[in-house]
Amino acid sequence: MARLLTTLTGLSLASIAIASPLQARQYDASPCAAVAASLASQPSSSATPTVPAQLAYDCITSVPFNQSAALALVDGVKPYFKWQSNTVWLKDPPAEYAEKVQPGVDIWGELEKIRAKVVGGEYDNEHAFGFELYTLLQSTHDGHFVFIPDSVGNIFNFARPVPIVSVSSDGKELPKAYVYADVLAESFGNSSFASSAISKINGQDAKEFLENWAQRGSLQDRDALYNNVFYELATVSLGPVGSGIGTFAGSGRGRWVYPGPTTEFVFENGTTRTYDNYAKVLVSFAGITDGASLYKKWLSGPQPTPTPGAAPSGNSTAPTPSATASATPTPIPAPGYPPPVVREIHNLIGGYFLEDDYSDVAVLSVPSFVGIDAQEEFQATAANFLAAAKAAGKKKLIVDVQANGGGTILLGYDLYKLLFPNNVDHAAADRFRAFESTDVIGQKFSEVAGTFPRTLVNETGNETLATLNENIASSVFNYRTDIDVNLENFDSWQDKFGPGLEQKGDNFTNLFRWNLSDVLIPLNSGGIYVHGYGPLSNYTEQPFAAEDVVVVTDGYCASTCTIFSELMRQRAGVKYISLGGRPREGITQAVGGVKGTNNYPWTYIQALAQYVVTELNSTAEESTELRNTELGEYFDDTPFLRASTGQSINVNFRDGIRDNDTSNVPLQFVYEASDCRILYTKAMTVDVTAIWKAVSDSAWGGKSHCVAGDMGGYKTKAKREMTVQDKVLSRRMNAWRRELKAEDYPLDVFTDETVMQLNGNGLMPV
Ligand SMILES: *[C@@H]1O[C@H](CO)[C@@H](O)[C@H](O)[C@H]1NC(C)=O
Ligand SMILES: *[C@@H]1O[C@H](CO)[C@@H](O)[C@H](O)[C@H]1NC(C)=O
Ligand SMILES: *[C@@H]1O[C@H](CO)[C@@H](O)[C@H](O)[C@H]1NC(C)=O
Ligand SMILES: *[C@@H]1O[C@H](CO)[C@@H](O)[C@H](O)[C@H]1NC(C)=O
Ligand SMILES: *[C@@H]1O[C@H](CO)[C@@H](O)[C@H](O)[C@H]1NC(C)=O
Ligand SMILES: *[C@@H]1O[C@H](CO)[C@@H](O)[C@H](O)[C@H]1NC(C)=O
Ligand SMILES: *[C@@H]1O[C@H](CO)[C@@H](O)[C@H](O)[C@H]1NC(C)=O
Ligand SMILES: *[C@@H]1O[C@H](CO)[C@@H](O)[C@H](O)[C@H]1NC(C)=O
Ligand SMILES: *[C@@H]1O[C@H](CO)[C@@H](O)[C@H](O)[C@H]1NC(C)=O
Ligand SMILES: *[C@@H]1O[C@H](CO)[C@@H](O)[C@H](O)[C@H]1NC(C)=O
Ligand SMILES: *[C@@H]1O[C@H](CO)[C@@H](O)[C@H](O)[C@H]1NC(C)=O
Repeated sequence: MARLLTTLTGLSLASIAIASPLQARQYDASPCAAVAASLASQPSSSATPTVPAQLAYDCITSVPFNQSAALALVDGVKPYFKWQSNTVWLKDPPAEYAEKVQPGVDIWGELEKIRAKVVGGEYDNEHAFGFELYTLLQSTHDGHFVFIPDSVGNIFNFARPVPIVSVSSDGKELPKAYVYADVLAESFGNSSFASSAISKINGQDAKEFLENWAQRGSLQDRDALYNNVFYELATVSLGPVGSGIGTFAGSGRGRWVYPGPTTEFVFENGTTRTYDNYAKVLVSFAGITDGASLYKKWLSGPQPTPTPGAAPSGNSTAPTPSATASATPTPIPAPGYPPPVVREIHNLIGGYFLEDDYSDVAVLSVPSFVGIDAQEEFQATAANFLAAAKAAGKKKLIVDVQANGGGTILLGYDLYKLLFPNNVDHAAADRFRAFESTDVIGQKFSEVAGTFPRTLVNETGNETLATLNENIASSVFNYRTDIDVNLENFDSWQDKFGPGLEQKGDNFTNLFRWNLSDVLIPLNSGGIYVHGYGPLSNYTEQPFAAEDVVVVTDGYCASTCTIFSELMRQRAGVKYISLGGRPREGITQAVGGVKGTNNYPWTYIQALAQYVVTELNSTAEESTELRNTELGEYFDDTPFLRASTGQSINVNFRDGIRDNDTSNVPLQFVYEASDCRILYTKAMTVDVTAIWKAVSDSAWGGKSHCVAGDMGGYKTKAKREMTVQDKVLSRRMNAWRRELKAEDYPLDVFTDETVMQLNGNGLMPV
């Protein structure tokens, strides 16, 4: 086994100059003391306490820079950066990606620059350093590559008190931004009120301001990023696991970015309005008197850490959640969604029928592929709804994946196989970086997995064997998991690992695919089998013809959603409609989120490495030998101690490579226009059926709402005689619409998320 010593740095900490002290600011007391005083004066019953944004910013930027701790962090992230699959592609992306999507980023080069600034004592304060490190990862626009330093995420979340939307006046004109509350007032209140579009924000052209702000988001596609700035019904329906009310108002990635003290709108009607930006305070300020004491209490660890040597659970190959999710017992409101035929309790999936002229249209709304423990419910909802739609004589199906940030990989395969059980079960293959860490782990996992039977053990069976299968046999690091591009088993770890292809100076494993017939599939899927395989192999009847299915997205289709989309587009030839986008002419992409096919939490990587060194060794000597490989680098907890509590830390572990793409470009870097682009209107921001009807019209109604692209090739639907059930539904939908009111639409979804997360982490002071 290769020996590689972990000398990451030749620099001794003692030789480093001490960072310069902070300049004084114009508060009587320190800004952090002012935050503490403000909190003390707020009623303890209020949900999440808030302070003015500027006060929060002055406080967090008064935290002194700790040079030695910063250096340890910059060096501590390096072992995990190595697992990021696409660093050479990020540095040197294809020309079309660089032109239409995002510019290249040299992660390793930029990290070295940050390190040099740390060593040179060039950061004025801890937040300046933390924010630069955060921004390095964010600037890759790979939603799977994320680290939120404590100074960025632990203390404050920034927000603007005014969610906005971007809508076209008539579905054809380019969209403009409006205050969402105005649109609600116009829709449900004073009928003589007409909202006016925002023409300037903080003195800048609104469109320009918003396009720049959009770049703070996690997605790669700029039109998808633009949509994510705004309030959107699909996102809101996800409650605490979605990106809330848009990045502009401080949801999603918007909460990490200081928006300045105020936000000033100039409207087209000439009115000017100024809003006070604020920050949610996430921790107790009891006893905090200045930046230094804030550092001591909240930014110098210890935070919750992974248990060293804990067995890595087999299910970590399965989820690619874009949001950390916690289960809620009560139903989450889905404002603007009609009464469902069936809906999963967290609104992760739901089925709806449309009324009147749209009576033959069924809608499967899938805003998530489930990052929580609800895989069986998801699958059952999808299967039951499709059966119900067929039973009700529905002829057309809209699949709405707006806001879908991903989730359980195999649920993406399952939904595709539910729709197209007889189609080929793959459209792309996977690979990961072939380097020392992945090689050593794979060798050991493959060796140990050969010593016991590969079998699914039920609850009453041999517990030891169950654990071995879950932790080791079902892992991607066991060559017996997955199949090669010829659909054959790999013969050995070497056969799977390769290295296969060398690209741009980096090495990758051979390509591999999921073996959906594998007996251990339930261990990688949250407990489900995929339709068409195992006990579900009798599922063979395709419910809808491909031309009777259309998928609609807001561009926020990431991770598992992109795996699903690759199957739907490449294999089934289903057309995709993209909504919204920047106020520019032309077609947009439908799939605008990370197309990597598996993320890995850094905690999981650490657990894998430590497990190999301390649990899978057959002798103490072997353990020492393993620790002297690169795996020895994963015993330092610094990145975990310095990460923002409750936020997942991830890399993109697997690339997806399209079948027969001889250039082997990871799908992340492939630009793909949608088939048709439809603009949001005001009606669509309060009633999701307005979107579905525009989609149905454009696909089958002979009335195109496409401002670019077209749905040519889809047949116009026949008029259908209304059944008794159709008439009942029509009355129900009308009653639902009559009862809609502005108060149904929460303007503060993110606040709830904060409260939930903090309670979940036990951080909130009592
Ligand atoms: C700076 O960080 C180091 C750990 O790297 C710690 O020992 C030291 O106490 C910190 N300095 C201050 C002033 O908190
Ligand atoms: C209705 O809107 C008009 C125009 O904006 C305004 O003048 C009027 O005061 C509003 N009435 C109510 C009851 O809010
Ligand atoms: C101008 O438009 C804004 C935004 O819709 C609205 O709040 C304001 O009342 C309008 N002003 C006038 C004078 O109508
Ligand atoms: C595996 O799944 C279980 C139950 O869904 C969950 O509690 C656990 O955190 C998961 N482990 C990992 C490493 O994702
Ligand atoms: C569990 O497995 C055991 C032995 O493999 C078998 O006898 C038993 O019937 C199984 N139970 C269930 C509920 O499948
Ligand atoms: C359980 O499985 C382990 C691993 O294969 C094996 O060593 C052990 O003998 C089994 N125990 C029983 C009771 O079958
Ligand atoms: C890629 O693999 C080749 C052959 O094993 C090796 O010589 C080379 O150093 C590797 N490159 C990297 C960047 O690891
Ligand atoms: C897939 O998994 C099944 C069941 O574990 C196994 O029999 C088969 O050899 C695997 N490979 C292929 C290519 O089907
Ligand atoms: C498939 O088999 C299961 C029982 O094994 C049965 O419940 C189900 O109805 C069958 N489905 C079809 C489509 O035949
Ligand atoms: C494996 O190594 C650990 C130390 O890392 C040691 O405590 C343990 O005894 C070793 N296991 C075996 C089976 O020798
Ligand atoms: C790739 O090529 C093979 C052989 O020509 C073909 O069977 C397969 O369907 C192709 N894959 C795709 C996604 O077109």
